[in-house]
Amino acid sequence: MSTARLTIESIGPEHIDALLAYHQRNEKHLARWEPARSSDFFTRSYWSSYAAAVQDDAYHGRAHRFVALLRGSRTIIASINVTNIVHGVFQAGVLGYSVDATHQARGYGSEAVGAIVTWCFRNIGLHRVEANYQPSNERSGRLLRSLGFTVEGYARDYLYIDGAWRDHVLTAKIRDDAVASGDSHDTA
Ligand SMILES: CC(C)(COP(=O)(O)OP(=O)(O)OC[C@H]1O[C@@H](n2cnc3c(N)ncnc32)[C@H](O)[C@@H]1OP(=O)(O)O)[C@@H](O)C(=O)NCCC(=O)NCCS
Repeated sequence: MSTARLTIESIGPEHIDALLAYHQRNEKHLARWEPARSSDFFTRSYWSSYAAAVQDDAYHGRAHRFVALLRGSRTIIASINVTNIVHGVFQAGVLGYSVDATHQARGYGSEAVGAIVTWCFRNIGLHRVEANYQPSNERSGRLLRSLGFTVEGYARDYLYIDGAWRDHVLTAKIRDDAVASGDSHDTA
């Protein structure tokens, strides 16, 4: 799918090298916000297994993982995941995302995450998308608010990140019919 400035692709074997490079470039930038890395995290074989697992998850509808590239480039500048997808009476999933350190604060995060949220509502029929952030992560909170996510609660010691249990602000966005039917301005 495309947005004004980005091409967003489902992760596949063609992204293995670019994913490894993205995480190598952003090791320090992401350590504070993402789970601890396994010892083989910065190896090609890790990302090769990852790409295979991602495709299996997508096939079974458990999770969908994407990368965003600047239009006309093969360099990954953002990663967006929808995981823990539950169908049936819940029809919900949980968002995760990051933007390359050198491309932050230019609206790429909002552009990529907004496109994937719209995709979730239109293409896989989710009713609800959840996203949770650490209170100190103001940028992530602003991104979510700008996309129409609303705060639903505060969870103490919610996720084990960067060596400790971290509180999180819990937010969600519910599908509105305009987005689901394609009337919105999103290009997903
Ligand atoms: C959070 C993250 C994805 C945001 O990506 P981004 O491309 O910088 O986001 P955008 O440029 O679309 O900006 C999002 C909002 O942050 C605001 N912002 C920009 N710089 C900021 C700063 N230094 N402090 C606070 N807010 C800031 C922007 O103004 C925008 O808010 P607005 O729409 O109300 O103006 C990116 O910073 C990142 O990868 N962080 C590390 C990983 C992470 O935190 N992932 C999310 C875990 S919940």
